[in-house]
Amino acid sequence: MNEKKRNFDQAAKTWDSNERRQGLADGVFCAIKDNVAIDKNMRALDFGCGTGLVSLKIQPLVREIVCADSSMGMLEVLQSKIRASDLDNISTLYLPEGELSVISGNYDLIFSSMTLHHINNLEELFLKFGELLAENGYLCLADLDSDDGLFHEDNSGVYHNGFDRSELISLLKKCGFKYLRDLTAVEIEKEIQSGIKRKFTIFLIICRK
Ligand SMILES: C[S@@+](CC[C@H](N)C(=O)[O-])C[C@H]1O[C@@H](n2cnc3c(N)ncnc32)[C@H](O)[C@@H]1O
Repeated sequence: MNEKKRNFDQAAKTWDSNERRQGLADGVFCAIKDNVAIDKNMRALDFGCGTGLVSLKIQPLVREIVCADSSMGMLEVLQSKIRASDLDNISTLYLPEGELSVISGNYDLIFSSMTLHHINNLEELFLKFGELLAENGYLCLADLDSDDGLFHEDNSGVYHNGFDRSELISLLKKCGFKYLRDLTAVEIEKEIQSGIKRKFTIFLIICRK
């Protein structure tokens, strides 16, 4: 665990220029779309939306989407995309760290991509998701399988070196969720040292209340 704060505001400026991130977001989106019956009546929440790489793919499929993040810099990039495309069913929510009470309402689809490893207290977050999720709603969580701390070049702000899926599913059950399924959404090969590559996988866990 590395509690040094990560500067996502700074990273936001060039976030979208990274092809690996774009591919990862595509893979997570496809895994959600192929495994959850998304419909136009749904209200969705993207927790840790970043610049909206996944949110903007879900946006055309739902009635409304709220994109929450603790980085104003990330949200500003997303806001400029929303303005440029004149989208009227998507909004951003600034969520200072540790202030989950800022999120309110009822959501048919709550999803999060590559953000859980930045959250220290997952039990608190999952209990909050339980309050926010509609009775027939879906919770979709995508993040790294255990990565031995090798995925990120800079581990600041990383509280979890990926996850053991069964441990995460146990915690979700403890927080009141019914586990539906898990799958591998994305496989990435990445150079971790000069000339040494390693494969990383990103899971999608789908739950209901
Ligand atoms: C690795 S990025 C993923 C962004 C986006 N989901 C994507 O797939 O491109 C992690 C995001 O989580 C946000 N984040 C980190 N800690 C957070 C917290 N406690 N509450 C809300 N967002 C948080 C960061 O600001 C950042 O935008």
